[in-house]
Amino acid sequence: MNFPSSPSLALLGALLALACLLLPLPASAFAPLPFGARHSPFPAPPPPPGLRPPPCTFSSLLSSPSDASSPSDAAADGSSSSSAPPSAPPSSISVNPLVASVKMSKTVEVFGLVQSMKAAGERVTSLCVGEPDFPPPQAVLDAAVAAVRGGETRYTAVAGTSALRSAIAADLLERKGTRYDAASEVLVSSGAKQSVFQAVLALCGPGDEVLIPAPYWPSYPEMVRLAGATPVVVNTTLEKGFLLTPELLEPHLTERTKCLIFCNPSNPSGAVHPEPLMRRLAALLELHPRVAVVSDEIYERLNYNPANPHVSFAALPGMFDRTITVNGFSKAYAMTGMRLGYACGPARLIKPCATIQSQLTSCASAVSQAAGVAALEEVREQEMEANVEVMRGKRDYVCGRLAGIEGVRSYVPDGAFYVLPDVSAWFGGDDAGLCLELLRSKRLALVPGESFGAKGCVRISYATSMEELEEAMDKLEEFLEENRP
Ligand SMILES: Cc1ncc(COP(=O)(O)O)c(C=O)c1O
Repeated sequence: MNFPSSPSLALLGALLALACLLLPLPASAFAPLPFGARHSPFPAPPPPPGLRPPPCTFSSLLSSPSDASSPSDAAADGSSSSSAPPSAPPSSISVNPLVASVKMSKTVEVFGLVQSMKAAGERVTSLCVGEPDFPPPQAVLDAAVAAVRGGETRYTAVAGTSALRSAIAADLLERKGTRYDAASEVLVSSGAKQSVFQAVLALCGPGDEVLIPAPYWPSYPEMVRLAGATPVVVNTTLEKGFLLTPELLEPHLTERTKCLIFCNPSNPSGAVHPEPLMRRLAALLELHPRVAVVSDEIYERLNYNPANPHVSFAALPGMFDRTITVNGFSKAYAMTGMRLGYACGPARLIKPCATIQSQLTSCASAVSQAAGVAALEEVREQEMEANVEVMRGKRDYVCGRLAGIEGVRSYVPDGAFYVLPDVSAWFGGDDAGLCLELLRSKRLALVPGESFGAKGCVRISYATSMEELEEAMDKLEEFLEENRP
């Protein structure tokens, strides 16, 4: 998009663009206001031609002069690729209605806006990212370089190299107690996102209902819609730690229920389900033998409470045969750009996923797969624990600061690197409006809770430097004090 060249004009254009996506108000209602002023309900006169904002489209938000730098943070976090789509087709060509019904993630919208602001010279603090701030372990980098030099640059088997599949099976047996046959029950993909989507496509179709506990990762409902099935949201509450209970799940189970998508630890809440609770969920599902489980465990290594260790859903009594477990290398090993994930499950469920993959991407990158073997076989446990320790310190810092702001309802999550405080006391519960104003006035980017099915909340990712966290929390506290209702 062609933003005006001066930073302030660029900021104005960018804010207008975000505003018309986030809120059902005319873009003109979002022109910067003096501090403390409220927006007028009446449309402002059109801006002079030189100030006219760019058209408010996905592509206008997503393509910025800095697009080449890094769309990956947000793109990995519940969104699709941020490369600019081709120019609009002639009006006589319609797009697939399934695709037309799919939403772009708010995370990517906010991230696109932040990129635009940065490109225009603005200094923005962003707590939107969905990837660790530490680099991949040295052994991983070395293995990738060796693979390139050694000519491991060709297609592999669709399901992945046998070296990686064996390493995954051994790792899961050792750490999770689940036994998978490397040859038929492990499918390596180009990221956990692909694995989740393939699992949903393999299991669900028109007429099926898919249970999605909220707050949820925004990709889940959209993937379900792409499969032609119906997402059914099961709300959890902050008071109960955003945990799914049998009591919350049971009323939503119908004869059309095909699948539960269970994200544990959760993005966006960081909740880790305790084993006794998971056993109760499993006991309920035993009464519903037609219901499969897609268990997204991508954050399982980021767990800060030894008293509440992560348990794999497939390890619960009676659950192995119905569970497709999804995991990957993006979060634990900071290999987001290497695009490597996997799905494990009984061969009869993994085979259709492999069939889909054979027609989509064939296989994951051979170089990344070699790096994945090194991640599982060479990275020492102490190195993994050191990263978790650092992340725990950041969680404690952010949660401590949130607890000190009167009116913010928060909690201390046990896993992942997110926290989802409730700030509904501000802006009449309009979290998108709050995020927009926060970005406008403080240059601090958070993701509105509404994109995770958590109205009134904001998602904070603490996977960034301590310095940036301190600055961000100062800004947030200041903003909430200044705008106290
Ligand atoms: C819950 C969840 N699942 C899956 C993914 C995708 O991970 P990958 O990078 O392996 O595709 C993400 C990324 O943000 C995530 O938050």
